[in-house]
Amino acid sequence: MTEYQSKRYKEVYNLFISKFYDIGLKIGLTPSGEKILRASVFKSLSPYIKRKDRILDLCCGTGTLTVLITSLIYRECKIIGVDLSFGQIAKAQKKNKYPNLIFALMDANELKFSNNYFDHVIISAALHEMDKNQRLNVLSEIHRILKRGGIFLIFEHHEPSKISLRILYNFYLGFIEKVTSHSFEMQRNILKELKKSGFKILKQIPIKKFLSFFQIILLKK
Ligand SMILES: C[S@@+](CC[C@H](N)C(=O)[O-])C[C@H]1O[C@@H](n2cnc3c(N)ncnc32)[C@H](O)[C@@H]1O
Repeated sequence: MTEYQSKRYKEVYNLFISKFYDIGLKIGLTPSGEKILRASVFKSLSPYIKRKDRILDLCCGTGTLTVLITSLIYRECKIIGVDLSFGQIAKAQKKNKYPNLIFALMDANELKFSNNYFDHVIISAALHEMDKNQRLNVLSEIHRILKRGGIFLIFEHHEPSKISLRILYNFYLGFIEKVTSHSFEMQRNILKELKKSGFKILKQIPIKKFLSFFQIILLKK
């Protein structure tokens, strides 16, 4: 992304998307659909979470997932949600009633954490909004701040393999995402890029309860 594109991206989130993000998701996914997707992320990560772990929700948006995870895990864990957009972070902060959770404004390209700081990192629905260079840079930052043996969870779009579902997917998500994001390019290259960035792929799980339109990729450093 050029500096100009990055400035525009932030402005669009701050001035427009953050105001309608939560309601937009509920309309696009339905309230129960969103719950199913958020719960799938928690279910995949929870077996790895130990007391006193540090968890980063990178590109946390309005913090819905961050707050859900915080509410379901040990109070001794420390959870940090960061995002580039102050509009998104302001919404997230309003939802926070937990002393062990903080939200902060931060660019995933330049994370202000020391090496090997986190036990787990999550990135939900953000990699498809990054171009290849930015994605590789962000993956390298995640690798730097994650402890050896730490878990990295990606929640992302997924084009189903079944032809009937693929047609529906392209109708539902494909058109908009082709125009506004790097979703298809990201899906084609992500596994290669993750290996190149030093992660070990543990599992790739299409979310069947949501027609396999989304996936979780679980990785280990
Ligand atoms: C589609 S939203 C997903 C939000 C949230 N993770 C969720 O699951 O609802 C993508 C988010 O990524 C954030 N984002 C994109 N690039 C970023 C970057 N370089 N650093 C931090 N946040 C970024 C955007 O501001 C936006 O809030």
